[in-house]
Amino acid sequence: MEKKTYYITTPIYYPSANLHIGNTYTTVAADAMARFKRLTGYDVMFLTGTDEHGQKIQRLAEAKSVSPKEYVDEIVAGIKDLWKIMNISYDKFIRTTDDYHIDAVQKIFKQLYDQGDIYKSEYEGWYCTPCESFWTETQLIDGKCADCGRPVEKAKEEAYFFKMSKYADRLIEHIEANPHFIQPESRKNEMINNFLKPGLQDLCISRTSFTWGIPVSFDEKHVIYVWIDALANYITALGYNSGSEELLKKYWPADVHLVGKDILRFHTIYWPIMLMALGVELPKQVFGHGWLLVDGGKMSKSKGNVVDPVVLVNHFGADAVRYFLLREIPFGSDGLFNNELFIQKINSDLANDLGNLLSRTTAMIEKYFNGVIPAPTCKEGIDDSLITMAIDAHKKVEAHIEKLRIPEALDEVWTLIGRANKYIDETTPWILAKDEDKKERLGTVLYNLSETLRIVSVLISAFLPETSLKINHQLNIEATTWESVASFDGTRAGTKVIKGESIFPRIDMDAKIEELNKLKEEQIKETAPKMQPLKEEITIEDFEKVDLRMVKVLACEPVKGAKKLLKLKVDLAGEERQVISGIAQYYKPEDLIGKYVVLVANLKPAKLRGEISQGMILAASTDDDSKLFAVSIPEELPTGSIVR
Ligand code: ME8
Ligand code: MG
Repeated sequence: MEKKTYYITTPIYYPSANLHIGNTYTTVAADAMARFKRLTGYDVMFLTGTDEHGQKIQRLAEAKSVSPKEYVDEIVAGIKDLWKIMNISYDKFIRTTDDYHIDAVQKIFKQLYDQGDIYKSEYEGWYCTPCESFWTETQLIDGKCADCGRPVEKAKEEAYFFKMSKYADRLIEHIEANPHFIQPESRKNEMINNFLKPGLQDLCISRTSFTWGIPVSFDEKHVIYVWIDALANYITALGYNSGSEELLKKYWPADVHLVGKDILRFHTIYWPIMLMALGVELPKQVFGHGWLLVDGGKMSKSKGNVVDPVVLVNHFGADAVRYFLLREIPFGSDGLFNNELFIQKINSDLANDLGNLLSRTTAMIEKYFNGVIPAPTCKEGIDDSLITMAIDAHKKVEAHIEKLRIPEALDEVWTLIGRANKYIDETTPWILAKDEDKKERLGTVLYNLSETLRIVSVLISAFLPETSLKINHQLNIEATTWESVASFDGTRAGTKVIKGESIFPRIDMDAKIEELNKLKEEQIKETAPKMQPLKEEITIEDFEKVDLRMVKVLACEPVKGAKKLLKLKVDLAGEERQVISGIAQYYKPEDLIGKYVVLVANLKPAKLRGEISQGMILAASTDDDSKLFAVSIPEELPTGSIVR
């Protein structure tokens, strides 16, 4: 019989900065699901990747004076390293800069255009670059991006539009008819009531104001809107439009797209409509999980509260991080991460409950049976509740996972671990050991504990893969199968255990927190901007040689063939001067017209790219040139006024 398939995806990440623990959360959850499905007999396709186009990436690359491709290559390598240390078992990693993806997206755009779903018009509105989102005036909240609250920029340009409204009714019908399509339930109502019911606007899906994107194949000055490009990854990764669609036939429709709640709108409105227009089946489910919050709320670079998963893995191991994310964050709602809660959980659940169960069991087998697991020859009634619970656990775990209730699945396993620890207290092996007549009973108790641990090891293997291997190693058993956890006889008596180090050593909370805080301080110091050293002292006479004057910008245009330069015409008390200024990355020409700026008026004229420049405009910028502002005044002043 052919295996059932399971296709799960994470969002594809923006390679705009190092990933933080919040991004890691989505991928760890998807990995746990993928591993669990493989364990329970599915043929799994687990897709992740990177979303590499768009204005945001282009600007970051420019600020570093590297090409966008060089910029993303470096960050993507870091992301792949992170997934390696987190033990993420993805089957495919897609980059939107991959040739096959670019080609397939161009064909998608062309098809939608040819069939009349895309038309050309003009865009006028607001754009949030960090979110790569368009907004109309009325959608803004307090003049800011309705998703993230950051400032938006005015955008007006020729653009292609997608007729979203045409498919809105069909989408509402689909959502109503398929109650599992959007999960959790609460998010479904939000999408219908806040976005679909008020009416869908046609979506602007091309840009001409920057170049880092997939060009529209038949109109190359346009690049395709990054969300169209990104969402398509879920099918292009399987070969859509590539001529070889075997994987697509096998795995599509996706069983679940796992996404954060901030991007649910894109996945439950734009994406299904794109698919409907293409005549492709819709994914079975989109699951929107909540935010991982830290002390101080949402993580952000400017707040300095970003939690780096690499630091955590270095100090606590990948499985401790995975455990906290999977067990402690209610899947679907927001959850809190901080070092205290994290270390507390490691100490109580991993060191105390699981770690001690293993070390006590193997230590007693060493001490009383020379390390050889005894046979269970002397069963008593008290064993039944442990055995029944161990045999039933897998069904409960599977039922929870079926509904993506990952924390609840782990609750079941820890209930069993707790039961086994209690069993030790109830049977008091150390007392049995004092009586030679009780040797067989003692052996049975230790067998039952080993066998419970073996079952635990299988049950946690999708969530804590390294730990499962360590337990297997100490019990000296091969990885066992899912089928083997339905009965209580998988451990072979006579096996010699290999007692090793404790799998989760107890952590000294205060010392560790201090160490982590110190590390954080050092990191902040290292990355804090350092001021350029001051120049040599000058006299007032030296300074007065520089003649600074207020001027008004009359006209401004780009310099052809020079990406960084703008050509300004400025008014200096009736005299018109031409100034070439390297500020094109920071200002659109129309933003400067009418502004009052400061000119170094007695600077010897120079030629830049064949254009004469009569003076220089003053500007303040960061060292890395990521930000720059021309020095200007808020109100009018006669041009030619002296600045000193
Ligand atoms: O949105 N807690 O990429 P991205 C939980 N490229 N999840 C968080 C989080 C937090 N604190 N911060 C971020 C994009 N995330 C697009 C996706 S898919 C076709 C394109 C989650 O790198 C966020 O919700 O900004 C999202 O699901 C994922 O990280 C990637 O975010
Ligand atoms: Mg985001």
